[in-house]
Amino acid sequence: MSTTDRIPLVLDVDTGIDDALALLYAASSPEAELVAVTALSGNVHVDDTERNTRAVLELAGRTDIEVAAGRPVPLLRPLEVTPETHGPHGMGYAQLAEPTRPRSGRFAPQLIVDEARRRPGELTLVTLGPLTNLAVAVLMEPELPRLLRRWVCMGGTFRAPGNTSPVTEWNIHCDPEAAKIAFAAWQASVDRDPATPRALVLGLDVTERARIGTDHVVALARRAGSTPDDSLDPGRAPGDPERRSVASNPVVRFVADTLRWYFEFHAAYDGFYGAFIHDPLVVAVALDPSLVRTESVAVDVDTSGGLGDGQTIADFRRLWGRAPNVDLAVEADAATFLERLVERVGGMAERRA
Ligand code: BDR
Ligand code: CA
Repeated sequence: MSTTDRIPLVLDVDTGIDDALALLYAASSPEAELVAVTALSGNVHVDDTERNTRAVLELAGRTDIEVAAGRPVPLLRPLEVTPETHGPHGMGYAQLAEPTRPRSGRFAPQLIVDEARRRPGELTLVTLGPLTNLAVAVLMEPELPRLLRRWVCMGGTFRAPGNTSPVTEWNIHCDPEAAKIAFAAWQASVDRDPATPRALVLGLDVTERARIGTDHVVALARRAGSTPDDSLDPGRAPGDPERRSVASNPVVRFVADTLRWYFEFHAAYDGFYGAFIHDPLVVAVALDPSLVRTESVAVDVDTSGGLGDGQTIADFRRLWGRAPNVDLAVEADAATFLERLVERVGGMAERRA
């Protein structure tokens, strides 16, 4: 693929186990031009998410990518993090070498604004964490929705229960005011100019179809030409922090060690030994929207502080009379996505070895 055909991406992340897989997916996708990655607090503190991001990109051989840190705390609410889901520093049982490339001196929201202005209509911004950085960016540049080629978002839940409160999904739950600002910015832009590209949003009800299991990791190891790996076998001392993958390939070892934590979390809370990998599905869809079927809807966020606080509300029946600001994913081809993940990340792992 020629460099001019590639899709320029900025990823905004709270790395995070599934964010790490999303970074590996983007770094191994020939059609992606990874322009920069911005990080913020979410799954763990931004000091960890930013360092994890650089370390994962280095594992993939991508020391050329600028990584910038953004807000350490939500706009108005106290910071919540979830080490029980992603491990004490966000990487499960995996331990990555300290990255050699330094953190960017740019403030993440400023980077997003600068890059969008530099290439109007070209950039796809993919948000995989809370929307704090994006909210600050749209406050700095209200024209952002028209400057981007598209905003693609992992966030919310629309026709299924939440994973944080009964009605909230983690990324929106952490900073609902930021989410409200972001969706309102797209709403205002669509109202002013109907040609504004609508946000493409994947909520939990769709991302939870992307379930990775032991078989996928075995297939990825095989594709990488790695020696076999049985560290994900659930019969082998679950929860043992000393147990590590013995695969010969370093990318495979990382994938197995980070996912083992996530598998144990899902076994405890969701009733299956495997994991929902929300974020890499969203990157895959940003690169190939044909992986999802969408409906155009108006989306807003409840910040009223009651039982529905942090809930994402989609007006499927157009009762509000608002123009749709979102193309909401309602179905996804999870099988094709998982095949691509194995092929791309496994292929990259083979080349790295
Ligand atoms: C989202 O929350 C985070 O824990 C994951 O990284 C994902 O972005 C799913 O609710
Ligand atoms: Ca995330």
